[in-house]
Amino acid sequence: MKPSVNHPVILPAPMAGWTDYAMRSVLVECGAREVWTEMINATALVRNNAKTLAMLKTVDTPGVRQVVQLFGRDPADFVKVINSGLLRGYDEINLNMGCPAPKIIKNHCGCALMKNIDDAQHLIELCRAATKQSGQALSVKMRLGWQQNIAVEFAQMCVAAGAERLIVHGRLGVDGYRGVADYHAIAQVKAAVNVPVIANGDIRDKASYEKCLAETNADGVMVGRALCGAPWKINLDDQVPTYERIIELMQMQKRLHNGNPSDLIKHWLCYQKQLKKYYPEQPVPTL
Ligand SMILES: Cc1cc2nc3c(=O)[nH]c(=O)nc-3n(C[C@H](O)[C@H](O)[C@H](O)COP(=O)(O)O)c2cc1C
Repeated sequence: MKPSVNHPVILPAPMAGWTDYAMRSVLVECGAREVWTEMINATALVRNNAKTLAMLKTVDTPGVRQVVQLFGRDPADFVKVINSGLLRGYDEINLNMGCPAPKIIKNHCGCALMKNIDDAQHLIELCRAATKQSGQALSVKMRLGWQQNIAVEFAQMCVAAGAERLIVHGRLGVDGYRGVADYHAIAQVKAAVNVPVIANGDIRDKASYEKCLAETNADGVMVGRALCGAPWKINLDDQVPTYERIIELMQMQKRLHNGNPSDLIKHWLCYQKQLKKYYPEQPVPTL
């Protein structure tokens, strides 16, 4: 029996180039009860691209839910991947409808789907039919819209098409990461649908977590950038680990990291920043 999608939630956000197997493992070590892959190209999986297949490695800690996030252009590829059994280790499949990167938008993927509601609906319906067979949950990660706020209408469409949970980043696609997340707009989504809504955007500590929950009435939150180099923040309890514990987490991430060293450097720099902030007198380990 798969765990329910309704358990109390502080979720680590999918972040391309960051939430690889090593970071997901460290997040579990720090207490995450659910982990998300970065966005993975469905078409590359269908084509058996070795590097993309390697991104599917699961963190097999009992009791930890695992979510795989897919993006892509061709709905048939999503269905093929779900039917293939390649995603067998995952409890939930999430569809990326929020990425605003130009190369993703140009390919009609990510947040471009919020400009083409019929395409988004078709994709969700096909994936829902496939996940009914596979026994996996299906969710959508969205923004408020591309250029204007269509979040309520879009969210209602997602649910009608078969999404069982929504993660809402409170910004428009055109805003990228500028400005502040609009929690009022997320509250409108929460009030308009009858599936769990997870609020996302600008949560970095206990105060911002509580503010977000109070203003959105969401069923949980998702935290992204604040976790880079500070995976313990997944608990949002403002506890700072000891110096030795941070070093231990750095070493764990390094040990599990398996691939291009340049991928590890950015993690290392973020950890170093945390060490300098909290333990300015102590040595900062080099990579
Ligand atoms: C470097 C980076 C990579 C990201 N990659 C993804 C991704 O692969 N899939 C996705 O849905 N969102 C992605 N996001 C968006 C985050 O999941 C999240 O929605 C956003 O950062 C807002 O949350 P935050 O304010 O807590 O960081 C990415 C964000 C960043 C900064």
